[in-house]
This record gives sequence, C-alpha cells and structure tokens, in this order.
Amino acid sequence: MYSGRTTLSKFLIEQLREHPEGADLGALLVDVAAAVKAIAAMTAKGALGGFLGAVEQRNSQGETQKKLDVLANEAVIQSCEWGGLVAGMASEELEAPYEIPAEFRRGRFLLVFDPLDGSSNTDVNVSVGTIFSVLRHADAQAPTLDAFLQQGSRQVAAGYAIYGPATMLVLTVGRGTHGFTLDREVGNFILTHPDLAIPEETSEFAINTSNERWWEPPVARYVNECKAGKSGERGRDFNMRWIASMVAEVHRILMRGGIFMYPRDRKDPAKPGRLRLMYEANPVGMLIEQAGGRASTGRGRILDVPPAELHQRVPVILGSRCEVERIERYHAEFDAGTDRPFVSPLFNERSLFRPEALAVNAGLNG
Ligand code: F6P
Repeated sequence: MYSGRTTLSKFLIEQLREHPEGADLGALLVDVAAAVKAIAAMTAKGALGGFLGAVEQRNSQGETQKKLDVLANEAVIQSCEWGGLVAGMASEELEAPYEIPAEFRRGRFLLVFDPLDGSSNTDVNVSVGTIFSVLRHADAQAPTLDAFLQQGSRQVAAGYAIYGPATMLVLTVGRGTHGFTLDREVGNFILTHPDLAIPEETSEFAINTSNERWWEPPVARYVNECKAGKSGERGRDFNMRWIASMVAEVHRILMRGGIFMYPRDRKDPAKPGRLRLMYEANPVGMLIEQAGGRASTGRGRILDVPPAELHQRVPVILGSRCEVERIERYHAEFDAGTDRPFVSPLFNERSLFRPEALAVNAGLNG
C-alpha cells in the first residue's frame, strides 16, 4: 500500500541533493512540517479542543488574536528553534523578531511566518493555513531587524499548509511548486501534486467586493468587465469566489487557476494594501511564480518590492498569468492617463440600449 509513495523527506533529499545548503534546508522544512502536523491536530479538534475563540491581548498590529494564533505561533517556534538551522524567526504574531535562546545553536536561515492565516475562519470551521518564507542569513551573528528585510526574490524556500478537509503542505525550493497531503494515520506528508501548473487563462476571480467604493479605477475596470460576462468586453462569463482566507484562495488557484486580488485601495490611506509582504505576499508570490503564474502589486512584481518594515503591507494581485498581466496593463494605462472608462453592457455594441438600437425601436431609423 505504501510502496511507490514519495514522502516529504524523500522528496527533499532528492530535490536538494545538489543544493549547497541542501541538508540544512531539508531539515528545516521537515521541522516546519512537524509544526504543521501539530497545528493540523489542533485545528481538526474544532470546538472539542477548547482552542476556539479569542485571547485577551491583541497582536503586534492591533488585531484580535485567536487562541489558535497563539498556539500555532508557539508550535512553529518550538519546532524550529532548537535544531541549529535558523538564526532567527519573525512572525505575524510578534512585533519584533524572535531571538533564538542562548542554549541553542544558531543556523544560517531566517524563518518568517504567519502561523495561522485567515484565523477569523476557525470559529466557523472554514479552511485556514500557515505560510512561511525561508531567507538566508549571511553570518553567525544574531540577526538584526534589517537582516530580515530582504526582497522576496531572495527567498530560498517558501510554502504554506492548508488545514482543510485534508491537510496539505505546498512548497517550493525554487524548482517548481509541489503539493503533499498528510496521511493522518501514518503521520507522513505524501507527494500527491507534483509540479503544479496554473492555467494561463481563467474565468474565476476573487476579491472582497464590499471594498469596491475604495478601489482604484484599474481594479474597478477589470472587475466590471468580469461581471459584464458574455455581453461585455471579455465575451465570456466569469465566476466569483471569496473565502476570506488567502491560503484557501491561493490553493484553489494552484489547483485550477483563477485570480486573487487584495489591491491597493483608498479605505485607509496609511495602508497600501491589506496583506503583509514578508510572510504572506512574498512566500505565496514565489509559489505562484514557480507554478507558472504571476504575482504583482498591479505596478510591478511582488518579489521585487524592497521591504522597509517587517509587518509592511502590500497590494496583491496574483494567479493566472494572462489575467494578472491584463490588470497590470490597466494600471499602466490608468497611470499614463490612456485608459478607457468601463462601458456597461447595457450600452455596449450588442445592447438594445445603444443609441442606434433605441432609435430603431423608436422608429427613427429606416
Ligand atoms: O490577512 C488575513 C486575511 O484573513 C487573508 O487570509 C484574507 O485573504 C483576508 O485577510 C480577508 O480579508 P477580508 O476580511 O477583507 O475579507
């Protein structure tokens, strides 16, 4: 029954054989996977585990912390701090980077993570996830904050776990994006989705439309064209999804294509977007690119954004390459002042409401 199955460890040994830091990187990813198994066990207990609900304190960004946020954060730290593989860690849940305790050896990687993305969904039993990014650390010194502020293009590895009906780990070490499914009885991650490839075209988009009044015109133009469907500019119907859990949206896109947007908007001018660059957009951006998709701010590649702060926010538009490129074009046209305003399908060339048709209907033409 188990012959021929590729476990995560076997996969990493094979993928990293030629990699100069392969043994350490593989060992670190196995430690991350151990934390993921612990978090999967906690999330799977649901209300029976007593882990649901919020704790008293708020996180570094003033957001309500769920009990599971705190427990997931501890699981990752405890699993990764002792092995001599990381020089430091940074988490969405901690204001400043976590220092490796003096009793443990420091390694040559930095681990940046969101222990439980979409955690507001835990109380309603919707899929959530853990996102992580692995960066290099140049020397044996304890890392300063600046050491963490590396562009996404410098990531050595990235991945996420999704706690859904099945727990999956999706990761890249820069050689494609690959998905593993947790065999709960055996406790192993098994390679089930090798070499994921995102279709270039899609007819499915994901955006929180309750923010529509704050969107920039290029985003409104794109979404309006999708909503206009067959009778509009795009000439085909689109479907929309919004799970409010980025990992779940990204997972859907990796499985069957699509586009996900949390773009820049005018809701809070102090925030250039909602999602965090270092532990949400960058790792997911690397996974998407490695699967043939594109991850953009609308005005450039996410992985090229120079980070200025650990908890920096960034606009995110990612998924099927052709759709992301179209939205980038809409941004460029808007910025250059050459964009066309959206025309409602009620008034497009096939509509009964276009001026010539109205004239015919009113008996004014021929
Ligand atoms: O960053 C946290 C997050 O929960 C993402 O996982 C998700 O895409 C987004 O926020 C949901 O935002 P909203 O509350 O606007 O739907």
